[in-house]
Amino acid sequence: MNVGYSRANHKHLHTSSHLRLIDRLANRLFALHAKGPHASDRRLLDIACGRGGPALRARQRKGLEVVGVDLTPYNIVCATKSNAKPKLRPRARFVVGSALALPLKDASFSLAWSIESPAHFSDKLAFLREAARVLKPGGALAFADLLAVDAAVTASVESRLVYRDFLETWDVPYLETYDGYSRAIAHAGFRLHRVEIATKYNLDILRSYCCFFLSLLQFGPLYRWYRRYVKQLTGAELDNVYEHVRKSYRALRGGMIDYGLFWAIRS
Ligand SMILES: C[S@@+](CC[C@H](N)C(=O)[O-])C[C@H]1O[C@@H](n2cnc3c(N)ncnc32)[C@H](O)[C@@H]1O
Repeated sequence: MNVGYSRANHKHLHTSSHLRLIDRLANRLFALHAKGPHASDRRLLDIACGRGGPALRARQRKGLEVVGVDLTPYNIVCATKSNAKPKLRPRARFVVGSALALPLKDASFSLAWSIESPAHFSDKLAFLREAARVLKPGGALAFADLLAVDAAVTASVESRLVYRDFLETWDVPYLETYDGYSRAIAHAGFRLHRVEIATKYNLDILRSYCCFFLSLLQFGPLYRWYRRYVKQLTGAELDNVYEHVRKSYRALRGGMIDYGLFWAIRS
């Protein structure tokens, strides 16, 4: 599932919201790279690349050679298939591997990103250390991730349970906080360049969708109409997502989850 990025009047939870997020992260990353010591280096590493969409977009938009690494072999098969012209230059290559032990040489890239994936990693500092290892000094890293809001999560026993349900339904081991990431970025050997808390451009929209969905459930005929509409639009089966929506809504309504975009330079 991708969370995306949308301003007013944009369609959300649609391919376009994921593309907007990728481009927002990418534009600042590439601007940073252009001002850095490796501006002529045209290779991008996508850490936890999924099925290859973001990396192939970077190749198409910026003419970059891309390498994607992902833990899930099926995603690498899909990414390799999406690369319709494998001989086309610049090359796109997808390999199975963990973000916590990248199958890549030290200082072999000057550009890297990880999009809506770090939440899934069991150790965020290990991910940042690996990113630092494979980047050259002066190289640039960007990532987009869910963040835990510590004060809201730890406010009561009940809020801890709501947070635990959120982690379970999103299938993530834990979420880093903003402060935790700021420390880990420095410990791993990066200088934090910029952060954007983008919650109002994605999670707040998601929260209102969840609220709408849960309200509709009270009105049978309306819900059935909406279910048909979503099925036509996205192919998704709404009946299957009730628990996910309910648990997500509770944590989002409680202000427990934020969303951050980070840009950092390898020291
Ligand atoms: C929400 S998807 C995002 C994929 C892609 N970045 C995108 O934006 O389309 C999360 C991805 O993280 C991958 N993943 C989870 N844990 C990982 C790990 N330890 N190392 C590498 N990939 C991992 C999953 O296989 C999945 O493809």
